[in-house]
Amino acid sequence: MRRACVIGWPVEHSRSPLIHHYWLKLYRLDGAYEREAVRPEDLAQFLGSLATRGYAGANVTLPHKEAALRLAAIADEAARVIGAANTLWLDQGGRLCASNTDAYGFMTNLNEQAPGWSKGRRPAMVLGAGGAARAILHGLLSEGALSIVLANRTRDRAEALAQAFRPAIRVINWEDRNRALADCGLLVNATSLGMTGKDPLDIDLAALPQKAVVADIVYSPLETSLLASARASGNQAVDGLGMLLHQAVPGFERWFGVRPEVTPALKAHVAASLGEA
Ligand code: ATR
Repeated sequence: MRRACVIGWPVEHSRSPLIHHYWLKLYRLDGAYEREAVRPEDLAQFLGSLATRGYAGANVTLPHKEAALRLAAIADEAARVIGAANTLWLDQGGRLCASNTDAYGFMTNLNEQAPGWSKGRRPAMVLGAGGAARAILHGLLSEGALSIVLANRTRDRAEALAQAFRPAIRVINWEDRNRALADCGLLVNATSLGMTGKDPLDIDLAALPQKAVVADIVYSPLETSLLASARASGNQAVDGLGMLLHQAVPGFERWFGVRPEVTPALKAHVAASLGEA
């Protein structure tokens, strides 16, 4: 039996088991996907014993994503550029390999839900400067976004991020975000604002062209107030749940040997669990 897990601290909130259990059942595979609560100080020891614990690999969630990359013997380009790993597996020689599938997940979902997002070649605006923002910048630039406007409450963090991706990124002050929307073709919320239990995202979409696409990485609630305002202004809205589902695909394929599909039925299954949260 093939086994994988999600490693986090805490890990109870992770939706990954729900996704992988759904696919294991759908494809009738002899596999298991478990939750592993691992303290930061125990991560190295845990990853060193993945094979003896019977795991083919793992997903990694907060707060372990950066440490998991440092502990891997081999990392792909996405993990290196993003500076964090969310998907691990052991190769034939037993070496720990790392990838980051967040950029893949975000872009696959965006291309699927709003294939015209890059039409018009207008700049994209990204809000935020954490790990999620970094993955999204990498994804957008890899897929031909010509210029990106980056706004973050703490401007220094945005400057540091822009340095890594020069010269395509222009940093603006957080206070100037509403005005700077005037020329944008895509707006992405890569902050945690708008998530259940967090502050709302304060943004006014009045200046945003109607053809622009608005994407949120927040998926709980599924319909954030940002997405509701976007729809109300006639903009296409892309929710964050698709990113979560698509980022899980490469790991499942590595561990269990089947490339799983992200379907409306899977989305409804996971969305129903969000309603219960
Ligand atoms: P992740 O790695 O998951 O992206 P993070 O590093 O904690 O998480 O980043 C969260 C993002 O939300 C940051 O861009 C943060 O802004 P700061 O860099 O200024 O902290 C942003 N954020 C969180 N709370 C915010 C608030 N009340 N107003 C504006 N931005 C906020």
